[in-house]
Amino acid sequence: MNLSDLVIKTHFREVNLADIVEQLGEDSAKEILSNFSCPMNLDVHNFLREKAIEFSRQGLSKTHLVFWETDDFQSKELVGYYTIASKFITVQRSSVNSKEARKLRAHGIFNEKTNEYTVSAPLIGQLGKNYTDGNNTLISGDDLLKLAMEKVKKVQREVGGKFVYLECEDKEKLRCFYEKNNFKLFGKRALDRDETDIGGKYLLQYFAML
Ligand SMILES: CC(C)(COP(=O)(O)OP(=O)(O)OC[C@H]1O[C@@H](n2cnc3c(N)ncnc32)[C@H](O)[C@@H]1OP(=O)(O)O)[C@@H](O)C(=O)NCCC(=O)NCCS
Repeated sequence: MNLSDLVIKTHFREVNLADIVEQLGEDSAKEILSNFSCPMNLDVHNFLREKAIEFSRQGLSKTHLVFWETDDFQSKELVGYYTIASKFITVQRSSVNSKEARKLRAHGIFNEKTNEYTVSAPLIGQLGKNYTDGNNTLISGDDLLKLAMEKVKKVQREVGGKFVYLECEDKEKLRCFYEKNNFKLFGKRALDRDETDIGGKYLLQYFAML
């Protein structure tokens, strides 16, 4: 026997919240979601508990739960989630380099009057680890973001598209996290009146090319 035989093998399993609601019913789904907490980000915390099921039902966005699971299926923990919505972005020519401009042009439209590209891009609307019972230590942010990007890639493999985007509060830790994962800052937008769980007055907007 060697060391690798003693280490318990694990993997991540992603489940669409819509499937959980369909198969287990809304009450059971809510019970699973009540196990999620994210004290560092109230928006991420509240969205899953209060809005995710309804948004999923209406088709406004789809939420994917990420579970950590042992290969023998004996243990399973909710470690995080992300939410994807179908959107478009508007990007100023001056915010991007010429390679990015070429790709934006190829996949979208250019307005010569405003010098802006408009291109369809799925939005990673929410992304967060589960801080209940230390479950956040079972997954890294990089891995969670990678799973979200892979999901977008999978959809785009079927329907086309090159871009993905997200918005975040202007906090150094978050800026560093997205920038080291190859997201590019392209703008900021003022908060809507109903976005009361978000700190500050605006959100930074980032895109990545897949
Ligand atoms: C963003 C996230 C996925 C990154 O995961 P990660 O790369 O594994 O990083 P960690 O969780 O170890 O956090 C790294 C640092 O960022 C800080 N941080 C994370 N989210 C933060 C937030 N929303 N506000 C302020 N600081 C935050 C952590 O406190 C930690 O600080 P430290 O280095 O001083 O200990 C994860 O931190 C998370 O789930 N955060 C809460 C939800 C969130 O803010 N999501 C982003 C929505 S745009």
